[in-house]
Amino acid sequence: MAKYTLVKLPGDGIGGIVLEEAIRVLDAAGLDARYVEGDIGWEYWCKEGNPLPQRTIDLIQKHKVALFGAITSKPKGEALEELAPQWKNKGLEYSSPIVALRQHFGLDICQRPCKAYIGNPLNFVRRNAQGNLEEPPVDVVVFRQNTEGLYGGVEWSDPPQQVYDAFLTHPRFKKNFGHVPKDELSISTRIFTRKATERILRAAFEHARQFGYKSVTVCEKPNVIRETSGMMYAMAIKLQRQDYPEIELWNTNIDAQMMWLTKSPENYGVIVSGNMFGDIVSDAFAGLIGGLGFACSAQINPETGVGVFEPTHGSAPKYADYRVSITNPIAMIASACMMLDHIGERAIAEKIRKAVAQVVEEGNVQTYDMKKLKGSPEVTSQGAATTQEMARAIIEKL
Ligand code: NAI
Ligand code: MG
Repeated sequence: MAKYTLVKLPGDGIGGIVLEEAIRVLDAAGLDARYVEGDIGWEYWCKEGNPLPQRTIDLIQKHKVALFGAITSKPKGEALEELAPQWKNKGLEYSSPIVALRQHFGLDICQRPCKAYIGNPLNFVRRNAQGNLEEPPVDVVVFRQNTEGLYGGVEWSDPPQQVYDAFLTHPRFKKNFGHVPKDELSISTRIFTRKATERILRAAFEHARQFGYKSVTVCEKPNVIRETSGMMYAMAIKLQRQDYPEIELWNTNIDAQMMWLTKSPENYGVIVSGNMFGDIVSDAFAGLIGGLGFACSAQINPETGVGVFEPTHGSAPKYADYRVSITNPIAMIASACMMLDHIGERAIAEKIRKAVAQVVEEGNVQTYDMKKLKGSPEVTSQGAATTQEMARAIIEKL
């Protein structure tokens, strides 16, 4: 009997390809696990009218921990067109299964570390006052509220009369939008709850304390979005005073943060945001450390222990059918390391991180993105490593 049973969710496109390589690395590093596969993604939308079948939810419920590749999402019209004939005209509507997973399991804590590997040719560089190029040591962990806010799904085009009437009770709505016909309105809400806000703030402070980051930055826009951003910042002030006095609390606006993060990324430690701004700021920091080939994430419900670990990138459909796969598996492998932290296998996680760092630093094996090549089947003849070669190089270091 293996020590762990883990769910693997390959999904679509390159999702399954990078996931297989991550599992090879986990095996080589000595993780005693067996893997059960869950169905998720476009294929199941087309065949079954549901991209997240109940059996997959049951599987995750049972085993608690899942490694997820990526899924493909397509616009409304295409989604309906590709449905199998028996599901057509049944009023089915496609919605992202990964968003559904987050909501179903309350995976409200999303953690996205962005730490530069020494020697990564994709690391951000800037010119200093002396005119020399320098590479700031980026080591930021973004905590993104993962289930609410702008991605909460409470939205309408041509809202129902009741909703419209309710909005009319708000003086600003009446003044600024009251003259607009109902059928010309689209409304997406941004709802924050105190419970989820406190959870993401606490997760951020706890992480800062545990790993010795000196500051937690609330990155929102409280001066304009006064209710939701304002609530988050006010709660952070209280929490810091009460429970985390040794950690500095900083406050940045998302727009200014986007500018400062290239000026002085080394100043930041832990960053905490709502759903949308967390998505933005984590992608931006990921861009400083190599982009989608390196950006990993964990999504956790701290109460139930359910965790889904996935690279930030999508299914990269244009590379999915290559005879030899060219995409970088490091983002997926780093996500698997976050899973190891979650299940308490820190030593194995560190071993793998060290192996990845060695491969990157040596620079002998680099995927096309690290070589700054445009993705194409020819990149391997231009010296780029394949997905498998990168994984093999990491395994050799183990
Ligand atoms: P994408 O992340 O799949 O690809 C964007 C570009 O980034 C690719 O063309 C490729 O050049 C590069 N890239 C991605 N992963 C890479 C890797 N591991 N190594 C090297 N380069 C890599 O995003 P895109 O093209 O916007 O979306 C494709 C599909 O993926 C869409 O259907 C989208 O809805 C879905 N998607 C799914 C996500 C998820 O499963 N969590 C997240 C983002 C997009
Ligand atoms: Mg994103």
